[in-house]
Amino acid sequence: MKSLDIHSNIHDYKVFFHENLDFIGKLVEQSNRIFVMDRNIYNLYARYFERIDLNDIFLLDATEENKTLKSVEQIYAFLATKDSKRNTTLVSIGGGITQDITGFATSTVYRGIRWIFIPTTFLSQADSCIGSKTSLNFENYKNIIGGFYPPHEIYVAPEFLNTLSEKDYYSGIGEVIKFALLKEEPRKNYSELIEKIDNLKQRKNILNTIHETMEIKSAYIKIDEFDTGKRNLFNYGHCFGHALENSSHYEVPHGIAVTIGMIYANIVSLGRGLVSRHIFDLLNNDLLLPSVFMKLEATCFDFDILLNSMKNDKKRVGANLTIIIPSSDNIEAIKVDDLSEGEFGRCLDLLLDTLGLKS
Ligand SMILES: NC(=O)c1ccc[n+]([C@@H]2O[C@H](COP(=O)([O-])OP(=O)(O)OC[C@H]3O[C@@H](n4cnc5c(N)ncnc54)[C@H](O)[C@@H]3O)[C@@H](O)[C@H]2O)c1
Ligand SMILES: [Zn+2]
Repeated sequence: MKSLDIHSNIHDYKVFFHENLDFIGKLVEQSNRIFVMDRNIYNLYARYFERIDLNDIFLLDATEENKTLKSVEQIYAFLATKDSKRNTTLVSIGGGITQDITGFATSTVYRGIRWIFIPTTFLSQADSCIGSKTSLNFENYKNIIGGFYPPHEIYVAPEFLNTLSEKDYYSGIGEVIKFALLKEEPRKNYSELIEKIDNLKQRKNILNTIHETMEIKSAYIKIDEFDTGKRNLFNYGHCFGHALENSSHYEVPHGIAVTIGMIYANIVSLGRGLVSRHIFDLLNNDLLLPSVFMKLEATCFDFDILLNSMKNDKKRVGANLTIIIPSSDNIEAIKVDDLSEGEFGRCLDLLLDTLGLKS
């Protein structure tokens, strides 16, 4: 069994990789543990949870609308009824939504309790489970409340992905592509990456790919856990991607929005003469466009909502918009703060054209 040690300024932790779900039995036997689970996971994998007293399970409906302080308060109320207090271990099982809610709850109740996380989506296994971020939505604002608190242990089992929808699976592929493109190496071998992603689409080599993606991410976290500099570059694809999530009312899942956001960032970069037409076309045709997977509607791209979301980006510093773009054919992402509304609109037109959505 593989494992990976992650260094954190809050507490170091370990990721365990499992070929099957037998490890759940051991977690059930631990003392003073309670479970918070995505309701879908509980229903799909009920036989693994048969030995847990129903009073020790809190079920969550994993929707963006529920990723709020209200759900956190319900978990506080659930925890308050238990005899164990600061010595409680909370085991949460689900995707990024379950992670964000339980990460916030465990970091604040009794000033921090032990937290074991079992990610069940491709995105949460390959990306979000490490990195310490906890985020909640507030009113219509996504992820504006939160902090930093990593789980104490993480158990990754790709077997969960057998029941994941194709759309959510492709959402994970988007983040895997992003990290592979951000990986610092002298020259990118795009054909190797294209082959790796083709394999993933056939559900091959998932565990190794998750491991490799985490290694890339953990190298950045080591330098900038609290996202004050280098970690910003993870936002390649995210500036426009978050705007698209908003504009599509979350019809486009996070990782697919990131894939489209990378195409958008590359358009900005092409327009500025930073990336060559050859690499731009190669990335679009062989990697990014085939990974969008879902059928998109032009109505998902509402100019005003997109522009407003970009204006509300936490990273924005001045009058213009902020975006992470490739600085060369080797990607080498950089943050630029001078995207004007005019350039934003021209690049949006080109994006719609690239996606075949131009009327
Ligand atoms: N904290 C971070 O660092 C971080 C990073 C990236 C994204 N996020 C957040 O993660 C959220 C998205 O998370 P996500 O994409 O992992 O998924 P999710 O938690 O939104 O779940 C997506 C859907 O899949 C279902 N599901 C989960 N696992 C399943 C399985 N194994 N089989 C069948 N169905 C399953 C869920 O019930 C839900 O309906 C967003 O809110 C995003 O903001 C957080
Ligand atoms: Zn992301």
